[in-house]
Parts: sequence; structure tokens; C-alpha cells
Amino acid sequence: MHLTKEEEKILDGEEGEVLERLFRLLVRLGDIYGAEKMIPVGSVQVAGVSYKSVGDPGLAFLEDMASKGAKVKVLTYLNPAGMDLENWEKLGFPKDFAKNQIRVMDAFKKMGIVVTSTCTPYLAGNLPRFREHIAWSESSAVSFSNSVIGARTNREGGPSALAAALCGRTPNYGLHLWEKRQPNVKINVDVNLDFSSDFGALGYFVGKQVKNKIPYFTGIKDANTDQLKALGAAMAASGAVALYHVENLTPETDLVEKDGLETINVSKKELDETYEKLNSGKDPDIVILGCPHASLREISTLADKLKGKHLKKPVWICTSRMMKEAADRMGFTEIIEKAGGNIVADTCMVVSPIERMGYKTTGVNSGKAANYLPGFCKQDVVFANIDKLVEGQV
Ligand code: F3S
Repeated sequence: MHLTKEEEKILDGEEGEVLERLFRLLVRLGDIYGAEKMIPVGSVQVAGVSYKSVGDPGLAFLEDMASKGAKVKVLTYLNPAGMDLENWEKLGFPKDFAKNQIRVMDAFKKMGIVVTSTCTPYLAGNLPRFREHIAWSESSAVSFSNSVIGARTNREGGPSALAAALCGRTPNYGLHLWEKRQPNVKINVDVNLDFSSDFGALGYFVGKQVKNKIPYFTGIKDANTDQLKALGAAMAASGAVALYHVENLTPETDLVEKDGLETINVSKKELDETYEKLNSGKDPDIVILGCPHASLREISTLADKLKGKHLKKPVWICTSRMMKEAADRMGFTEIIEKAGGNIVADTCMVVSPIERMGYKTTGVNSGKAANYLPGFCKQDVVFANIDKLVEGQV
């Protein structure tokens, strides 16, 4: 790979041991994937934030880097943490877990990382532009930024994203290159998609079929950004889709080559079967919405449904701290809390230790959450649209 003089210096250790180590990782990645050069990144989003996923080794690694004075060079946001960083005690998160989670956050903060903890950074102040090169790691955020915004990122791992943040660069390969962003399978959708959960079911089904290919959707008549984020998140979870195109809806559809692609048809039958497959439980102990993290529109929808009602079981909606603050101001938080629900910030149902909090069956409207909850959190899952989930609790 061609390196600039400045980059050679980093590799020679002239900018310290931490940068040398991390830059070496980026060079190795670039060599593996055939990158010709490094490119500057506009922003970074780092995964591996919950203490549940990083554990003691991750915590020690982060504290070590922070203690050596490592500082990020570009705007860097974080994936959800393992708990609500302000209301963890009230929500029943275990104390020992909280202590370690706070240490993880402190280490990130010391490195100059904005301690945002969200999988929807684009809703919380980290919005890339069309064709901007970025290095993000949360799979649903990668999918959204590549597909809906038209920014360019590979699906980074935690360490490679952190390296990109500290070095301000990433190797130029994969989805950074226009020729690698071409679709290689067509998905013809012949079913009405009304709820976000329908988009989640579609995404789950397609992800399973296409694995890491780039789908080009036809037949989706309309979708708002919440529905597209649900679609992309599910495809990234059940498969490894990091970019998709939707005819007339996403920005690169007129530019890509889509003739002669193998076609997969999706009808009501496939969608119904997916709902059935994702349902392993009957009566949820808790309903958790907001995967990926809820937008203000999704929070306001829940507030509308809960106005004046009394919940029998807990209902959470997960979101970023920024959206929560907007919801506080709009009075949505008060409505949801009066009904007995909670807006939970900074975390989500998958990366928080809900299995340690006594929950066994979780109701979700997200294809991604339905995919991960059984394995990550030992949960039975009720996968349904928001109306059915909330109806069952009031
Ligand atoms: Fe976000 Fe957690 Fe879902 S990280 S995409 S809310 S599993």
C-alpha cells in the first residue's frame, strides 16, 4: 500500500506507541483487502461499548490506551452502552455491572470520544454527507449511512474503528470504492409493508437469503427513515448486508448497474413465515421498542398510544440521550412514564443485561432484536407490530 510521508512516520513510531500499534492494524487490514492507500475519514462510530460485550479484558485495554494519552482526531461517537448512564439505578441495572460500565465510559471520554452511546448517531449529531468516507462499526448504522445517506463505510470492528478514530484514516477498500457498491441481487417485494416490524421481517428474511450481498429492492412503494433503518438493521443481523438500494427511495439507485441480476421474490407468504419463525414466546414480561434506537417520531407514536393508559407490564423504548432530551421537552417522557413505561437512553435490549434483571420473554417489533435476543440475552421472543405489543399490555 502506498503510504504518505506522514503515515510512514506514524508507522515508525514517531507519534507514539499507541498510534504506531493501531496504524499497523489499519495497514495490515489494507494489505489483506488490497487497499492501495489510506483515506481520511469524516467521522467514526465505535462499537464494543457495553461492559457485557467487552468484559474485563476490553476495559483494561481501553484504560491502558486512555492512560497513554491516546486522543481521537475526528468526531467519534459510541455504540450503546450496557445501561442507561443516568437512570440505571432506578431501572434496576446491577450495581457491579454499573461500576464497570462507568469505567468503560470514562476511558472513552478521556480519549476525546463523545460519550453518546447510540446506534443511530445520524439522529444525534453525527450526520455524514453523501459520499463522505467514514469508519463506523455498528452494523445497522453502517447499513443506514451507506444505503440511506449514501456515505461510504465498511463494517468496521471495534478495534479498527478505534484505530481509524485515533489515526483519522481508514484503508481504501470495499464499500469505499464505487465499483464495490453495485447491487448483486434483486429483491422484488410484492407485499404491503405497514409497520416497522414488517420492514424488520422483510429484512430478516432477505438477510438470511443474501448473506453479505448487496440487494436492490423493487416494489417498496414508500418508506420513511424509521422503516428503512428497521429494514437495514434486520438484514445486517440475519445476514451481513452493509449496503442496500431501494428503487426510487435511496440515493444511489439511479447510478448503479442493476440489469440482469438474479431475482428473489418476497410475498405475504414469506413475511408471515418470518413472523412465525421469530416468535418463540407467548406472553412478554417486558416490551422493548427502539431497535435501532428510536427517533423522536417513534417516541411520539408510543406516547400517543399510551396517553391516559395504565400498563400491566413494563414497556421500554430505547433511544439516544439526545432524543430522550427532546422527548422530555415535548412532554412525551411524562406521558410514557405516567402510563408506567420508560424511555431508556444510552443502551438497548440486546447489550444490557436484561437476563440478569429477571426478564425471560421480551416483546419486540425489531427484526434485529428478535434475531439476537435468544442468543445474547437468553430470551424467548414475541415479535409483533407496535399496536399488538402495546395492546397486550394495557
Ligand atoms: Fe441498536 Fe441494540 Fe438494536 S445496538 S440496532 S438497539 S441491538
